[in-house]
Amino acid sequence: MLQKLEELKKEFRESVEGLTDKNSLAKFKSDYLGKKGKLNDILKGMRSATTDVKKSVGAAANEFKQEIQESLVKQLAKIEIDEINSQLKKSWQDVTLTDDVQVKGLQASGYHPVTLIQREIEDIFISMGFDILDGPHIEDDFHNFEALNIPATHPARDMQDTFWFTDMAHLLRTHTSCIQVRGMEAHEPPFKFVGPGKVFRCEATDASHEMAFHQLEGMMVGKDISVANLIYFMKTLLSEIFRKDVNVRLRPGFFPFVEPGFELDIECLICGGTGCKVCKQSGWVELLPCGMVHPNVLRAGGIDPEQWNGFAFGLGLDRLVMMRYHIDDIRHLHSGDLRFVEQFKAY
Ligand code: PHE
Repeated sequence: MLQKLEELKKEFRESVEGLTDKNSLAKFKSDYLGKKGKLNDILKGMRSATTDVKKSVGAAANEFKQEIQESLVKQLAKIEIDEINSQLKKSWQDVTLTDDVQVKGLQASGYHPVTLIQREIEDIFISMGFDILDGPHIEDDFHNFEALNIPATHPARDMQDTFWFTDMAHLLRTHTSCIQVRGMEAHEPPFKFVGPGKVFRCEATDASHEMAFHQLEGMMVGKDISVANLIYFMKTLLSEIFRKDVNVRLRPGFFPFVEPGFELDIECLICGGTGCKVCKQSGWVELLPCGMVHPNVLRAGGIDPEQWNGFAFGLGLDRLVMMRYHIDDIRHLHSGDLRFVEQFKAY
């Protein structure tokens, strides 16, 4: 019996790796382990065997059974991986194909209006000598709050409802101001850059609020930078975006990372400043929070505030898109509805 077992083992080992699909694997399993399978066939003789033989054959048979089960599990995993790989091969698509290559069944849609506006604003800033920086969506406490003059106990943390990770040390960035911090860490002044990107806030959604939206943060650091420089760049930016000169005004605004901080309003483009529904009859629309970078922020970014100063501003891209295209609900922007996106193929 032991010899027969050895032979069966050899036969099993030689054939198990040749199995290439799940059906033949199942059949193979019952051929070996089934009631009328090969193993039981050998063990039939056990009834009349001596106790010693029963013991040794029983132990060898159990060991073999375990080997069969383990090999079958391994082989099954191999078959499944092969299946996935061949499926991937069949459905492979070259995502780098450009639209001058005809892709059957695929239709090019438009750029998302936020992408369009982001690129346009990047171009405006590039033409004014700014760099474009990027930063991670998952940030740490330091880059999102601490370095921006918002320590742990600061009530300003409540200004932004934050998605925290369970370690309470990481979060989804609540603003692109983290890119300011990363920019300061990576550059020696003088410099000027903008950092566009998605930001996240734990807020209920409605016509003017989304959990994820887009900002574009800008920063300029140099010698003797003044509010006049800030106004100049903001005016240039806005008249480029809206393709005409716009009137702006500064109101005081509070953000812990700037001092003084401002809200920059533009004269309402719908009514020309006489008052309408969009500007709530005030003639002005709030568009751009900004200010002179707080010395603590410069210090946290490794810059000596005795020698250098600068301004920073944040632009809400979704709001800008809504104003330009007269979209009255921010949720359209994330709807994923192609009928919406297709309207913006070109500006
Ligand atoms: N980070 C601020 C916000 O998201 C905006 C801001 C940027 C304000 C830069 C001032 C300067 O609310």
